[in-house]
Amino acid sequence: QHQKLWNNARITITAGPTREAIDPVRYISNHSSGKMGYALAAAAARTGAQVTLISGPVSLEPPAGVTLIAVETAEQMLAATEETAMDVFIGCAAVSDYRPAEVASQKIKKEQQQGAPSLSLIKNPDVLKTIATSKQPPFCIGFAAETNNLREHALAKLDAKKLKLIVANDVSDKTIGFNSEQNAVTVYWQDGKKAFSAQNKTSLAEALNQLFAEHFFNENK
Ligand code: C5P
Repeated sequence: QHQKLWNNARITITAGPTREAIDPVRYISNHSSGKMGYALAAAAARTGAQVTLISGPVSLEPPAGVTLIAVETAEQMLAATEETAMDVFIGCAAVSDYRPAEVASQKIKKEQQQGAPSLSLIKNPDVLKTIATSKQPPFCIGFAAETNNLREHALAKLDAKKLKLIVANDVSDKTIGFNSEQNAVTVYWQDGKKAFSAQNKTSLAEALNQLFAEHFFNENK
């Protein structure tokens, strides 16, 4: 791999799930091991990028040479991203789309409930869309986990979130994605695409890292 691929470009990557408190002992969250985002951060750092990794709660060691910012909620993830995103932003996190409208300050006791409690939710900010539609946005790359009509849904997100590239994976296939070691994806951009066959997340991250750098420098030459 080319050491100077990124020529010191500043890359911010979000990874892992967010965690939204219901009360002091409960939360809602998403499935996400953080492996893909961590592998991308490692690949970018190895190839000459200055990498900030903004991570929700995961059980992974931070990659060498990467600045880690640990967060829990979507709002914290957005704040950290707004502070650090410079040249390139890669939104790899499984951000919770909603959070409880109110966080109970004490544990909700079943003895005090009549029947089951109901949970009222409000929308979380879309971290990627907020950054990508800001005044002078970095080069923005998104991920899309889909179960059907991969191409159509990915291209709709590319457009809606004003992204340069979107990495789409089919999560209906149980052998790839989420907590799996393997992943197969197709990357879409405005007028092209590239498919990557099933491989481990480290080698996929290296291939994606290469493609991201090519597209970034193509725009910024
Ligand atoms: O809309 P959807 O969740 O499928 O979009 C996926 C992409 O948007 C991912 O790159 C994800 O990290 C990002 N996203 C985000 N904030 C949200 C929801 C999604 O940054 N609230």
